[in-house]
Amino acid sequence: MPLFNVYPLYDVTPVKAKGVYVYDENDTEYLDLYGGHAVISIGHAHPKYIEAITNQVNNLGFYSNAIQNPLQVKLADKIEELSGCKDYELFLCNSGAEANENALKLASFQTNKSRVISFKNGFHGRTSAAVAATDNATIIAPINAQQKVTILDLNDIESAKIEIEKGDVCAVIVEFIQGVGGLDEATANFFEQVDILCKTNNTLFIADEVQSGYGRSGKFFAFQHYEVTPDIISIAKGMGNGFPIGGILIHPNIEAKFGMLGTTFGGNHLACAAGLSVLNVIEDEELIDNVNTISKHFVKIAKTIPQIKNIKGRGLMLGLEFDFEVSDLRKKLIYDYHVFTGGAKNKYVLRILPPLNVKKEHINLFFEALVNALEELIKIQKR
Ligand SMILES: Cc1ncc(COP(=O)(O)O)c(C=O)c1O
Repeated sequence: MPLFNVYPLYDVTPVKAKGVYVYDENDTEYLDLYGGHAVISIGHAHPKYIEAITNQVNNLGFYSNAIQNPLQVKLADKIEELSGCKDYELFLCNSGAEANENALKLASFQTNKSRVISFKNGFHGRTSAAVAATDNATIIAPINAQQKVTILDLNDIESAKIEIEKGDVCAVIVEFIQGVGGLDEATANFFEQVDILCKTNNTLFIADEVQSGYGRSGKFFAFQHYEVTPDIISIAKGMGNGFPIGGILIHPNIEAKFGMLGTTFGGNHLACAAGLSVLNVIEDEELIDNVNTISKHFVKIAKTIPQIKNIKGRGLMLGLEFDFEVSDLRKKLIYDYHVFTGGAKNKYVLRILPPLNVKKEHINLFFEALVNALEELIKIQKR
């Protein structure tokens, strides 16, 4: 049976990985500065992660959400401890889209309203309400287009005010650092004003931290760079270091009712064991401090490279903007220099999303490769 052909693929076949390196079937080593779409947080095949998952699957891999699962409680407590988000409650699911879908659904239940505000170049996933809130007409099917969504320009506080004050908006959903879009951020004033508008108009403020969360921005959550209090925080990618797990942190103002949200697989024993080991490693290895140290080192070198026109993002959620489209550069980095990087909707931006335990020496290797690749591309263009 052929695979349904929805992914354009690079011709690389990873078969194993360790730390910040991935290896193909010929044992060729690739430096992973992309973390499989920002998923790898504590590094590939971390021994504590392997141990936690192995032990758990040997005991109990899965049982349903109809029984007591103390691992969910432990995970919730650990997220609270490391994030500093006191008193929120946790609902567990399996992916980023599912986290946002549940966040939007909850906002609609809570406010009894149904219109959503989101922002240009935002990406929130591919399920019905999440994709409708995503600024990409090509991935919105007619069935999704029935959702009531207004997509505004980031930083356009006047339009946000007009729309929120109409009174029919259940949620404003935002990425504090845009991932897929290309690392744009709104101003502190914009985020803080939107937060206030939400609080005064019975609208929930949803922080989509699916990509920017779990320390990637240099704080546990990217919204913590601002004075805002989201009603719902959605999480996924870095949470399981590759094990599928997502969730939403829910402000105590929102009351749970039996059956309002639910899932078969979400919060299963194995996923919780993976999630707990990720948080333990982030804490024990002080990975958020590492994010800040490595980010400074990265930016310092990036500033010395004349072809880089702009350095975007924060922490280890970074974008290098060039004055040419980066797809050939990305290919050259993969095939000739064996370095994985990412692209964005903004075709001029090379995305850098390494495991959070990346070291300075890896960044130096990346820049060596980048400088050489850029020189070769310039030579090719001159021919
Ligand atoms: C900010 C953001 N939200 C949601 C999603 C969707 O997550 P998933 O692909 O796990 O459904 C993504 C994925 O790239 C994302 O970057």
